Amino acid sequence: MAAPLLGVIFLLPSCESDPDSPGKEFMPDMYRSPAIEAYVDYGEIRGRENKELKSKLSARQTPKYTIPFVGTDEVLVKMMMPNRYKAGMAWRESHGLYGWDLSEESEYEMTRNNTVNPYTMTTENADRILSEGKTLYTSMCMHCHGEKGDGNGPMIQSGAYGDLGVVPAYKSLDTLSEGKIFHSIYYGKGYMGAHGSLLNKKEIWTLVHYVRQFQFDDYGKEEEVVEEDSEELGEATESLETEEGDTK
Ligand code: HEC
Repeated sequence: MAAPLLGVIFLLPSCESDPDSPGKEFMPDMYRSPAIEAYVDYGEIRGRENKELKSKLSARQTPKYTIPFVGTDEVLVKMMMPNRYKAGMAWRESHGLYGWDLSEESEYEMTRNNTVNPYTMTTENADRILSEGKTLYTSMCMHCHGEKGDGNGPMIQSGAYGDLGVVPAYKSLDTLSEGKIFHSIYYGKGYMGAHGSLLNKKEIWTLVHYVRQFQFDDYGKEEEVVEEDSEELGEATESLETEEGDTK
């Protein structure tokens, strides 16, 4: 007699008129993870307010020096290591880099001799890199920098962002080192925002290649030429190399 009665007492509260409702939760932790989640605003949950948390960033930064797991490919792992050269403290306010690992002064100038893109371009992967670059560029950069990299994207054309010339044409920046291009995309520069939290480092190095192909017409095609007929074209390639060496 007691057992069915107890059963009824326990079962009744779990009845809900809403057919989509799972009913009363006796142990909510089993339904809802008590773990802290990155995109939950803990300052205000279901009407409950936590004043102290409300004034803090709700999207959590990963701990300093965290690197994404990218497998065991040594080159890729190295590429993902924390940046050696950092933006300056001023970037905290100017580019919103709160909580980032910054140095007193910007170390942009120190990257001038950093002329090697660690995402090496070869004859085999050149097309793939440039097509990945195009996809990234189209969604993240083109609206300012323009389809042709001339600094005349839709944002400029519409007048929303400033006059022509606010965004420099890539061709006028062909003396920048690879490191500087990376640094500017990662931390932002002037009116350009930081992209370090939007793109991973491999994607940024892919974009560095893509920026280069706006600057040098035969970028990504050189190796092909060298391999096809290195003897005959030896001289031409040599002058090409020095030309590039000078400009970097
Ligand atoms: C909101 C508009 C905007 C977006 C989006 C933008 N840029 Fe820029 N970019 C600028 C402006 C403005 C400058 C000039 C900054 C300066 O020198 O003061 C610039 C400068 C640059 C430079 C030259 C940096 C240097 O060291 O002189 C590079 C390279 C560059 N952008 C690449 C990119 C790439 C790649 C993307 C996409 C991930 C991108 N930009 C997205 C506006 C933008």
